[in-house]
Amino acid sequence: MDKITRDRGFQCSSYKDKCLRRRIAVRIRARGVSGCAEYSGMLDSDPREYERLMRSLTVNVTKFFRNWETYSAIDQKVVPALMERDEREIRVWSAGCSSGEEPYSIGILMDRHSRANGGERLESISIVGTDIDTDCLGEAERAVYAESALRDTPADLREHYFPKIAELRTMLPEVRRLVTFEVRDLLHFQPPFEDAHLIVCRNVIIYLERAAQDALFAHFHKTLAPGGFLVLGKVETLLGESRGLFSPVNARERIFRKM
Ligand SMILES: C[S@@+](CC[C@H](N)C(=O)[O-])C[C@H]1O[C@@H](n2cnc3c(N)ncnc32)[C@H](O)[C@@H]1O
Repeated sequence: MDKITRDRGFQCSSYKDKCLRRRIAVRIRARGVSGCAEYSGMLDSDPREYERLMRSLTVNVTKFFRNWETYSAIDQKVVPALMERDEREIRVWSAGCSSGEEPYSIGILMDRHSRANGGERLESISIVGTDIDTDCLGEAERAVYAESALRDTPADLREHYFPKIAELRTMLPEVRRLVTFEVRDLLHFQPPFEDAHLIVCRNVIIYLERAAQDALFAHFHKTLAPGGFLVLGKVETLLGESRGLFSPVNARERIFRKM
């Protein structure tokens, strides 16, 4: 673990030890080496194996509209409230966005809502997806996806927003232009902007140790504008002192609002 932190700046100590060890063990088995010492040497001599290990440690699994019920709650409770805000810019941060499916899904909901209401707010939407994994962000910027990435996407949204070109689905330019991507390590606490109106952070915090989770929740609270929303989704929730910083909007889907 020390080696990975030294070589790659990946803060292993903030992640759950058991998860990291399990994933390293899987790579050791996959490469058929005898143990940690031999595998460590392999990482030095084979940069592609190092990349594979890092991908495995950061867990990049994602999908458009992953857990539709959460997106449905965002669509009903969060998007209308954001659009009604009396601000020039509506700032959304998808933290740990992997290959872009999450920020684009939010972009689709905001585009649809805005167009249904005259389209005036479209110019004010700014969504930033951040991740530690530069390869994933490259895929996000290309915005070309296999059909499997759309398995949870309702058919009407799929057909409207993802034109099919040579068996692949391309994100419609109208939504692409709402979303930008930046490389950021969440544990460095550098938000893409101050005063976010919505932060979505799903399936990331679960891999972190409790102290890192607490620090991240405090950081999200600081980054949100008054009344801003935090969406954690089904898997994660606020713990300890952070519960006093937010009020629940939808307890089941873990949607909160800054108090
Ligand atoms: C399982 S994916 C979740 C993607 C998306 N949020 C979703 O729920 O579908 C976790 C993502 O968090 C990113 N991640 C893990 N640790 C990170 C860190 N310290 N800073 C930024 N991103 C991180 C990983 O690279 C990965 O893309």
